[in-house]
Amino acid sequence: MKVLNYGSLNVDYVYSLDHIVQGGETILSSKMEVFCGGKGLNQSIALARAGVPVYHAGLVGEEGSILLDACRENGVDTSYIRQMDCKGGHTIIQVDAGGQNCIILYGGTNQMQTKEYVDEVLANFGEGDFLILQNEVNLLNYIIDQGYDRGMKIVLNPSPFDEKLMDCDLNKVYLFLLNEIEGKQFTGFADEDRILTALAEKFPEARFVLTLGSDGAVYCHGKERIFQDIFPVKAVDTTAAGDTFTGFFVASLLEEVPVKDALRIAAKASSIAVSRPGASPSIPCIEEVKASLSLGK
Ligand code: RIB
Repeated sequence: MKVLNYGSLNVDYVYSLDHIVQGGETILSSKMEVFCGGKGLNQSIALARAGVPVYHAGLVGEEGSILLDACRENGVDTSYIRQMDCKGGHTIIQVDAGGQNCIILYGGTNQMQTKEYVDEVLANFGEGDFLILQNEVNLLNYIIDQGYDRGMKIVLNPSPFDEKLMDCDLNKVYLFLLNEIEGKQFTGFADEDRILTALAEKFPEARFVLTLGSDGAVYCHGKERIFQDIFPVKAVDTTAAGDTFTGFFVASLLEEVPVKDALRIAAKASSIAVSRPGASPSIPCIEEVKASLSLGK
């Protein structure tokens, strides 16, 4: 069984500010840092740091060598990633004094996938392989259809949520990982219970993990529900917390860890990521997560 993460790779320009800038306001940032990010890249690195061999597919631009290097340094297989002679994906991220962020996303090469490239990559995968996806690349509907036709198990983090998701046949998704805002956008409901009930009715075959910020996370499959609390930490930067959760949860499932323990590992990994700056550099490795859990920290 192989794992392919087909997703975005971004250079994140991160500005530290007292508060997120308001319309019409100009403020001086106390710091500017450049990190490797993108939901796709972060999730691949989280999977790799959780101990699962992962292939990444996606397109980087002329400044994308640092993204390729970050993947390789973390053991992510980059043989399917293509570099193009134009602007790649990047973000401008504001992080406030409480660690909350807001993100402007420039798609660049992440929005230049072609059907030919998708076909070429997916030809190397088949029955029972896992396909991890987010919503920061174009042709998501085509990638889902082609992966499903090859018998791949599709894991979708529908983030950032937009109307393009409605063009996708989401009945083909095996596992959704989403936050409560995306849950509301999907179902129209604000409370966790109604979101999960509506999702389970809409996609009866699928499994769901709904993350609830400081209120923890809930797994749902049919009538089964498993709750996981957060591990409280002082938030330094919440960027990539969700990606870390996704990577560690999926990695644990692939290693046949029971869901209850997979949620615990993912919540701990995510709490460590929140306590550090940046996207991919904030993601811990499995040894650190396990050591921290066994110490009961
Ligand atoms: O989920 C965090 C990521 O979202 C950042 O690394 C940024 O690149 C955006 O894609």
